[in-house]
Order: sequence, then structure tokens, then C-alpha cells
Amino acid sequence: MVKIEVCIGSACYVKGSNQVVTILQSLVKENQWEEKVEIKGSFCMQSCQGGHGLGIRINGRQLLGVGLHNVEEVLKQEISEALS
Ligand code: FES
Repeated sequence: MVKIEVCIGSACYVKGSNQVVTILQSLVKENQWEEKVEIKGSFCMQSCQGGHGLGIRINGRQLLGVGLHNVEEVLKQEISEALS
């Protein structure tokens, strides 16, 4: 099981974290990952303060430099790698 945590803190919300959840849900559906990927919300994980982009963790590892412009691509690749 791949566990994805998406920050639901206010700074990430402003940057579009709710859209990240929608994108993630579409990716899971498209790739039939329903049984393999778990999506959870998380409180602030300090990405906003470090200028690291949106707060997203995959299996406990924080992703850096992710924004709405690249989130779909990055998550698809990260999840595929985690499942392989
Ligand atoms: S509000 Fe999301 S990392 Fe801080």
C-alpha cells in the first residue's frame, strides 16, 4: 500500500492542495490503484515555511518542489515507482 499524505494547512490550501486531492483521485481511478493507494490529509508539514512547494508525503517521505504545474506528473511517477 502506498500512503500519500496531502497537507490541508491554510498555506497549502491557498496554493491549491484541494486540487491535488482531486488530481490524485483521478490518477488512482485511471490507473486502478484503488486497492493500492491510500490518500490522507495531514496538518502543516513545514513545506510552506521552507519554500518547498505543496506539502505532500509519499510513504512518509516529503516531496520537494511540487506545485500544481507538476503535481500530476510527479505523483504518477512516484506512485509507479513505489508500486514497482
Ligand atoms: S500549510 Fe502545508 S506545509 Fe505548511
